[in-house]
Amino acid sequence: MINTYQTSLAPPPVPPRLNRSHPVLIPAPLPSPGHNKPLIRFLVGVVVLHLLLSVGGFIYLYTEKMEKQSPQNPPSTEGGKAAFHSAEKQETFYKALAGMVVLSETADKATSGYLQWDTNHSVRRNINYFYGSWLTVLQSGDYYVYSRVTFSKGDAVNPLTSRIMLRKSKTEKEKIVMQAYCSLGSHPGKSSGLCTATQGEVIRLEKGNQLGVWTENLSLVSYTEGATTFGMYQL
Ligand SMILES: *[C@@H]1O[C@H](CO)[C@@H](O)[C@H](O)[C@H]1NC(C)=O
Ligand SMILES: *[C@@H]1O[C@H](CO)[C@@H](O)[C@H](O)[C@H]1NC(C)=O
Repeated sequence: MINTYQTSLAPPPVPPRLNRSHPVLIPAPLPSPGHNKPLIRFLVGVVVLHLLLSVGGFIYLYTEKMEKQSPQNPPSTEGGKAAFHSAEKQETFYKALAGMVVLSETADKATSGYLQWDTNHSVRRNINYFYGSWLTVLQSGDYYVYSRVTFSKGDAVNPLTSRIMLRKSKTEKEKIVMQAYCSLGSHPGKSSGLCTATQGEVIRLEKGNQLGVWTENLSLVSYTEGATTFGMYQL
């Protein structure tokens, strides 16, 4: 019988075995001392470059900061001012105000009472009218409230008085917040004299508060344009 498993031919060469004593994936050829020098030079170069960039960056940022702080640098301070102004403008745009023109139709009322305002010719923002004589606050805040009431006739008995009245709401009783007086002198009955009672004050107002101008005798008031006015603006 012929043994087919045996042959006289030499066995095929065994592929070279990997030497397991050394790691396979990290071949670590011993670097020769001649290869080390360029690498060290490169690393030193990188470190020096990094150092130079850091120092340069620091100097740049430092001088930039000093320039911004310095008042002798017009471009940056003007830019800051412009930004500040635009912010301020935007803020004031939404603040409440009212500037009232007196209505002359009340001139013949020979009684005490509240001045009526010409709602068609008055300036108003974020403030409501209430029956022509009251202003209703819509935004709580500090307001500068003022009035100027000019009298064209004197009163023999009472001093010429104007009062700014406040009520917490339309159903509550009003109270005096400011009052001003003026006098026509020793001849109260004379029709040629004029005097103006002016008042203004900062008042804390809450939403819903109402303000009006009261005077002792509405027929004594001058209804000349600009002589009698009432207004307020939010601070
Ligand atoms: C108001 O003034 C007018 C004009 O001086 C006068 O006739 C009238 O009696 C006064 N009314 C009051 C309530 O004092
Ligand atoms: C405001 O104007 C309207 C229309 O022109 C008018 O009907 C109204 O009476 C005016 N109101 C006042 C207070 O003058």
